[in-house]
Amino acid sequence: MSGVRGPIGAPRTMADGKAGRARVAVLISGRGSNMAALVYAAKQADCPFEIVLVASNNPEAAGLQLAEAEGIPTFAHSHKGMKRADYDRLIDAAIRRAGATHVALAGYMRLLSPEFVEGWQGRMLNIHPSLLPRYKGLDTHQRALDAGDRVAGCSVHVVTAELDDGPVLGQTEVAILDGDTAQTLADRILIAEHQLYGRVLAAFVGGPANPALLLERVRAIALALPVASEKMSHGVPAFAAAGKMFLYFRNNHHGDGMVSICVKTTGREEQEMLIDTDPDLYSWPSYIGPSGWIAMRLDRRDLDWDHVADRILTSWRHAAPRAISALL
Ligand code: GRF
Repeated sequence: MSGVRGPIGAPRTMADGKAGRARVAVLISGRGSNMAALVYAAKQADCPFEIVLVASNNPEAAGLQLAEAEGIPTFAHSHKGMKRADYDRLIDAAIRRAGATHVALAGYMRLLSPEFVEGWQGRMLNIHPSLLPRYKGLDTHQRALDAGDRVAGCSVHVVTAELDDGPVLGQTEVAILDGDTAQTLADRILIAEHQLYGRVLAAFVGGPANPALLLERVRAIALALPVASEKMSHGVPAFAAAGKMFLYFRNNHHGDGMVSICVKTTGREEQEMLIDTDPDLYSWPSYIGPSGWIAMRLDRRDLDWDHVADRILTSWRHAAPRAISALL
């Protein structure tokens, strides 16, 4: 059994979803109890992330059923008979189709290809049942017992090319009891894991706006438009439709202290109207010619990405050749 179930089959854009929340794809191979903990954490109104996909290399993974029952799109495809890089490309495509901004590994029992890790650099976390850097890899509970440790625990870390090796973002210590077996210890650590993962993930995605992540999201929206291309212009990433600029991305441009985009409006009247209506969001762009450009701030937690996508589309319409923009 393999394939895509749920609304993931329909193409989604990076602009979909609730404003300002990180969009997390969770990768599982089995039970999926950590995934469930993340799903329930995301139900809180103030949670800064939502789960947009649960994907598995094991179509029989029990966690898939839970995700489906919770109305979360799932992707299930066995890795058997496929080369690692090919399989990872497949799962990566599903994650990107879901418009995910982050990946959370939760009992995903596959080594990842360097290309996959590179593609999610700085945006992929893992939970591991030991106090890293101790006991990387498998059998962590038994190894802690064999070593005579009095304390074990779990860690959430950023995923890098080395197995279980990236920067540790959070840990919980769990006391080892006399008479503990690997199983009884694992059961108690799992309780700690469920509480740790959501908190660390929330702190990670809810921290200060990350300009690289914002650029990636803007880029995904812009380059999905026909005849759009990217180049550096005046030292910033800029996007053109058939050679004519419609979007600039600016990070603390000339020390203005904000992450913003510049997009085209119909002219002075619309510029004034937008700035009057929402002066926190819109401003006169510094260091850019007059002719209808407006700056739109991106580093706001409550940013409505549907609105950003609309603005980018409108700006693209101003630049794209008539014959092409008429098609959209
Ligand atoms: C957890 O112990 C996690 O730390 C490890 O794999 C196990 C997955 O359990 N990476 P579950 O599938 O989340 O229940």
